[in-house]
Amino acid sequence: MKIKFTVNGKEMQTDLDPDMPLLWVLRDIMGLTGTKFGCGKALCGACTVHLDGAAVRSCVTPIRSAEGRRVTTIEGLSPDGSHPLQTAWVTYGVPQCGFCQAGQIMTAAALLQQKSRPSAEDITQALSGNLCRCGTYNRIRDAVFKVAQDSKA
Ligand code: FES
Ligand code: FES
Repeated sequence: MKIKFTVNGKEMQTDLDPDMPLLWVLRDIMGLTGTKFGCGKALCGACTVHLDGAAVRSCVTPIRSAEGRRVTTIEGLSPDGSHPLQTAWVTYGVPQCGFCQAGQIMTAAALLQQKSRPSAEDITQALSGNLCRCGTYNRIRDAVFKVAQDSKA
């Protein structure tokens, strides 16, 4: 069975096992290693990507779920790293080791797509499932809140 979907605007067609996790295809077959493997059990958020604009955990998303849909990874969020969240991440010096950060940004980007003016509570709620072993939570929230505030201007 052929499964077709797009990844960062590029068409992908595969006859791999339909139950293979999307994360494996992204990292091991397409070489898109910005998306990280953390727990493999939908518990940490490190593997978060967008499926038709919604945040999903690619470690537990079988590729059959992507059939006919748009997958966006951190590499495809902007052509040159200029998405407002990426800019704010630099301004606020958010990352420490960086391992969780692609997932954090992709979760925040999905929130901003759904709700361009989220409240502080919305931001905390949306990001509550994305874990950071380095404890960068305050900087993450500050950066997302700044982007949300700027979008009010
Ligand atoms: S690696 Fe997917 S949620 Fe942890
Ligand atoms: S920056 Fe190290 S795990 Fe989040």
